[in-house]
Amino acid sequence: MYKMETKVAVVTGGNKGIGFEIVKGLCQKFDGAVYLTGRNEERGRLAVKKLQELGLNPLFHALDVTNTESIQEFATYISKKYSGIDVLVNNAGILDFDKPVSSYEDSKRLIDTNFMSLLTVSKILYPLLKDKARIINLSSDWGLLSNIRKQVWLDTLVKDDLTVKEILHFVEDFLDAARGGKNSFVSFAGHYGDYKVSKVAMSALTFVQQRQFNEQGKDVSINCVHPGFVMTDMTKGMGDFTPERGARAPLYLALEAPQSLKGTFVWHDCHQVNWDD
Ligand SMILES: NC(=O)c1ccc[n+]([C@@H]2O[C@H](COP(=O)([O-])OP(=O)(O)OC[C@H]3O[C@@H](n4cnc5c(N)ncnc54)[C@H](OP(=O)(O)O)[C@@H]3O)[C@@H](O)[C@H]2O)c1
Repeated sequence: MYKMETKVAVVTGGNKGIGFEIVKGLCQKFDGAVYLTGRNEERGRLAVKKLQELGLNPLFHALDVTNTESIQEFATYISKKYSGIDVLVNNAGILDFDKPVSSYEDSKRLIDTNFMSLLTVSKILYPLLKDKARIINLSSDWGLLSNIRKQVWLDTLVKDDLTVKEILHFVEDFLDAARGGKNSFVSFAGHYGDYKVSKVAMSALTFVQQRQFNEQGKDVSINCVHPGFVMTDMTKGMGDFTPERGARAPLYLALEAPQSLKGTFVWHDCHQVNWDD
């Protein structure tokens, strides 16, 4: 079957906030098809319409990052139509700003969305990545290692030979703490510990997966980024930056960073920082 050689960029959770602005920037500067994806078709199509009104031309496809079939369906669609994916922005995420301490069930839902989904996405979408593909993970300053208060994880997560299995143990250990109630939740990573754990796990996974790509001899870059404190629905409109400014560093990684920038943590001003300082 004929497949288009067009380059392809995919943004998860692209219907609003920082993701929407990343899609907008890609439509302006990326030479190829830009997929605005989202879990809700109506919200996604409305977002596409807004960009069309600005003379831009994103494409919409449904993609719920917590739903394996949805990811699979998207992968099948892309692989039938194109020769692969060039840019993948893992932007979709949740946080209830009103709840600094969450129940076990809410913590699990958050970690499933912000972190576990990345494992499913890796399994299903990474095989479609082209040579020199770029993956950008939307982490946070709450995804820096120093947010974690348990010494065993401060020691483990910095190991050069860290494994995905160990990151999963870290996440499970937190969920056990969340099951134990408020005090054990807070003693693991303070307020918003579920979100911090999800983003620390995301950051650690970024470095492990870069190592794996290198070991497989694949020229793929994967970096994570703190977009700044950005005024979106997630923060109830609070923040230092507009969503457009929040999209700056993710767009830098997608479009401008040297291909040699691999496995790093990038600050909102596009400078590299040490994740484990
Ligand atoms: N805002 C900040 O200050 C800040 C700081 C650091 C990091 N970040 C990170 O930046 C990313 C974007 O955040 P934001 O502030 O732009 O938040 P936002 O405005 O709340 O947007 C979040 C996006 O994720 C989507 N999403 C949620 N669950 C999903 C799922 N299961 N499948 C697919 N999409 C899903 C949402 O879709 P719906 O509309 O359907 O809910 C929405 O499009 C997040 O990963 C966040 O953690 C934000």
